[in-house]
Formats: sequence, structure tokens, C-alpha cells
Amino acid sequence: MTDAPNYGFETLQIHAGARPDPATGARQVPIYQTTAYVFRDADHAAALFNLQEVGYIYSRLTNPTVAALQERVATLEGGAGAVCCSSGHAAQIMALFPLMGPGLNVVVSTRLYGGSITQFSQTIKRFGWSAKFVDFDDLDAVSAAIDDDTRAIFCESIANPGGYITDLDAIAKISNAAGLPLIVDNTSATPYLCRPIEHGATLVVHSMTKYLTGNGTVTGGCIVDSGKFDWSASGKFPSLSDPEPAYHGLKFHETFGPLAFTFHGIAIGLRDLGMTLNPQAAHYTLMGIETLSLRMERHVENAEKVAGWLETQDSVESVTYAGLKSSPYHDRVERICPKGAGGLFTIQLKGGYDACIKFVDSLEIFSHVANLGDTRSLVIHAASTTHRQLSDEQLTAAGAGLDVVRISIGIEDADDLIADLSQALEKATA
Ligand SMILES: Cc1ncc(COP(=O)(O)O)c(C=O)c1O
Repeated sequence: MTDAPNYGFETLQIHAGARPDPATGARQVPIYQTTAYVFRDADHAAALFNLQEVGYIYSRLTNPTVAALQERVATLEGGAGAVCCSSGHAAQIMALFPLMGPGLNVVVSTRLYGGSITQFSQTIKRFGWSAKFVDFDDLDAVSAAIDDDTRAIFCESIANPGGYITDLDAIAKISNAAGLPLIVDNTSATPYLCRPIEHGATLVVHSMTKYLTGNGTVTGGCIVDSGKFDWSASGKFPSLSDPEPAYHGLKFHETFGPLAFTFHGIAIGLRDLGMTLNPQAAHYTLMGIETLSLRMERHVENAEKVAGWLETQDSVESVTYAGLKSSPYHDRVERICPKGAGGLFTIQLKGGYDACIKFVDSLEIFSHVANLGDTRSLVIHAASTTHRQLSDEQLTAAGAGLDVVRISIGIEDADDLIADLSQALEKATA
């Protein structure tokens, strides 16, 4: 497809990044299941290795199937470029890698996927990085947490598990004032519901494992660069602004301008960290994205119906879905994710932990799995599983207390989902 910035989302989700295969005319993006690519001659090889010419060298760095996916996700997010990698968690490390260094910190929201809280509170310490956790509704606290060693601000647009919606405009104002990049995990919203770059995000990360692929077949991640951040302005991002010894002193920002982060992500990130997405996975994700808008519309429609019904049930203490008028975040939906609040929320059961466990075990259509964003409806007791490593304080801050069940609403018949929830609630409270 030629550049066509005026095409609508539904057209771009099918065509962006995809061209008929130049060798065969194949209409669907082929799976280029190859490790290496034949160089035209020694000069061509040298130019590729020096980043003087763009092309394919080795599939740890670049692959045509993965490249099509990168272009598609970048286009849908309104970014300048994207780098795909092996998982959502890999995307988070890959996003931070060029920005951070020993002694530096990232300011992050307390409302994150449990695995991300563990990654930021424990694992990144091994690199000498640290994270400062802050309630992102307390804007003064976010500003106060930023110090000379802060290199990024990180949050989720619609946070897992609670469906909490971050006021991205307000957080972007703070990151702009501090001259820092804002990284937004847009996994739960997808670019169909929310486009963080339009709200001031510098980088958008995805677990493509979830709604983008959409059917629970792939583990994948992506980092989209807005191309708007001035990496050379402050001297705080030498990996992007200063001479790179591994490329004979090349300066990524000076050389690649708005594509600096993307080129660095491929040429340094994938080359040296090796968290590569395989072409088969990229193909599944490309196919999934073709129906993203249709699925997200149905996820939202079903979530609104089911959450509305759950709210009326005596055994249910609360429902966190931001699409409900009762949600304190309802007024953010129209501004941040105008096409709906997604398909993910939690319910709090009056019967506490025991009722939650009975409820999860009694569901029939809903699958009890550690995943979300599938066509199938899914359920999990976050505190004892995905958020198990967190302290009680962290669980409460993340909205994943012991009496809370996370629900990912699929695209089945909403009445069937309600009937299943109804029988399981009855058993849980019998
Ligand atoms: C919001 C969010 N971000 C990131 C991740 C990590 O993604 P992955 O499992 O693909 O590494 C998850 C996984 O559940 C998630 O829900």
C-alpha cells in the first residue's frame, strides 16, 4: 500500500505495511521463514552492516514479515516507526534500554499488570535501574517523584486488571515539562480505542499477545515511536544522541531523526538483546489485526452489557468497568478512549476470597487462564496468580485485592456470558 494518511482505521488495519509480494504477487503477507538474506555483493553487505543502506541481513534484526507488522502497528498508532519483539515484557525492557543506565530511574504508575510491577520493582534492579511507583491520579506526586536521574515515565492507558483509565493528557504535560519521554502500555486499549501519541505519549508499548493478535495464539510485543521526542536536547539520552561505539561513532538521532529510536531498537536492541519476534508469530498477529476494529467493538458492547448486569447482582460488591456511569473514571472514557472502555474489568465479591475461588471454578464458558484479550471470555483471580508476587499494599493499589476477580470479556453472545456468570455466582454464594 502506498502512503495514504487519510485512510480510515478499518482500511489501515488490513492494508498498512502490506504490499503484494514482489517475487510472487502473493496477496497475503508471506511468512518469510528464513534466517539470512543473500547479499548482492560485498559492497552491499558492508553498506547494510554500516547502516548506510536499509535492508535485510539476519532475522534476529529484521525480517520482511515482521517488518510488515511493524509498519502496520506504527501506522495504527500514528507513530513514525515500530520495533516488534518477542513479548510484551520484552517490549518494556526494549523501550527502557536506550534511555536507562545504572543509577537511573523510571517513574511508573501503581496501576499496572502484576508482571510489570514485578519487572519494575525487582528485575530491573539487576541492571542498576530502579522504578518509583506513584498513584498517577495524584499529579503533584508524579511531578515530585521526578528527579535528575529520572529518564522516563510509564503507565498503562487502560490499566490491567481494574480497567482504570489514565489521564494521559495530564501525565504528558508533566513529562513534557520535565523533558522526559512518556511511555504508554496500550495493550488493553489497542489503537482502536486509544491512540496515546495523540495525548502526548513518546513511545507506545504493546503486548501483542492480547487483543492485537486476539485469539490467544501468539506471544509478541511491539514498541511504537512517535518520532516526536528531541533525544539530543538535554544530554540525558546519550545512547541516542552521542556517538555509538558499536557503529563507528554513528549518532542515531542526528543520522535518523524521527526514526532514531526505531533504528536503535533494531540495530542495537534486537541485535544485542536478541528478543526477536519470529515471522510465524508476526503472520498470526497481522491476520489478527485485520479484524481488530470489529472485535474491539464487540468486546466493548459485550463488556458494557455484562458489567451493567453484574453491577445489579446482590453478591457483587463492585464492578470496576470504566464504561459504567458509576465508575470514577467514566468521564475519562470520552476523552481518552472515545470508542469505549475496552473489555477488561474486575468484580469484587461480597463472599471474599472463598467466593472468588468457587466462582472461578464454577464458570463454564469462561476459561480460567492467565491471559486477556482473547475472542474467548477469560477469568482469573489475579491476587493468587498474575499478581501473586505483590505485597498486600501493592495488590490494593493495583486493584487486585483478595476478593477481586479479573474478567476479560470475549466476543461470544453476551446473553450466554450473563447466564454463565449467573450460575457461577449462585454456586459461589450458595
Ligand atoms: C497490560 C500488559 N502489559 C504487558 C504484559 C506482558 O505481556 P507478555 O505476556 O506478552 O509479555 C501483559 C501481560 O498480561 C499485560 O497485560
